[in-house]
Amino acid sequence: MGRKFIVGGNWKCNGTSEEVKKIVSTLNAAEVPSEDVVEVVVSPPFVFLPIVKSILRPDFHVAAQNCWVKKGGAYTGEVSAEMLVNLSIPWVILGHSERRALLAESNEFVGSKVAYALSQGLKVIACVGETLEQREAGSTLDVVAAQTKAIAEQIADWTNVVLAYEPVWAIGTGKVATPDQAQEVFAASTRIMYGGSVNGGNCRELAAKPDLDGFLVGGASLKPEFIDIIKSAE
Ligand code: G3H
Repeated sequence: MGRKFIVGGNWKCNGTSEEVKKIVSTLNAAEVPSEDVVEVVVSPPFVFLPIVKSILRPDFHVAAQNCWVKKGGAYTGEVSAEMLVNLSIPWVILGHSERRALLAESNEFVGSKVAYALSQGLKVIACVGETLEQREAGSTLDVVAAQTKAIAEQIADWTNVVLAYEPVWAIGTGKVATPDQAQEVFAASTRIMYGGSVNGGNCRELAAKPDLDGFLVGGASLKPEFIDIIKSAE
């Protein structure tokens, strides 16, 4: 059997409690392929995790958008992996390019976070991807390899890791990578999602690529077209 398709909705720093409830109610009413065909994970901001978990349909799962690199303690403003486990949050997104760029998260720091989250029993969506300058300089594969190696150096088992390849130049820009640009970065060993301007109109062509196992969706995950993206798993 092939690797199961996975579609993640990264809501980023968006939403009010009313808006979040509305998105969940749209998801709950949707007819989508079964959990055997597609794994669906939505990732609200921390403050909405409990409400989303409590009202979301049971065949969809929740992810945090980050967690601290080690056991909790005197780290003001951080949320620990233990806290996520305590709330029965099964997934966490780590190494998103917005955090790498805006909060200066290094490859090594992201690798340590992935290792610690796994050690606590979380499943991890680990993000990698190159900037436009890096792509134009021809270093896409080197950049992605270095980001992935920094994770590989700190973990032994990739069973609970999904890699999300998100070229930075494609995130929130409407400039989706071509299916061939996405495919050239993918490998065979672990599940790999593509992220960057995925929408209801382009998801099926991308999903047709054999080494692509799913999507990490930003903007479109806040809209009803997220359902169409889930359905592209079929
Ligand atoms: O985590 C999701 C990605 O950053 C993609 O965002 O679909 O809005 O381009 P986007």
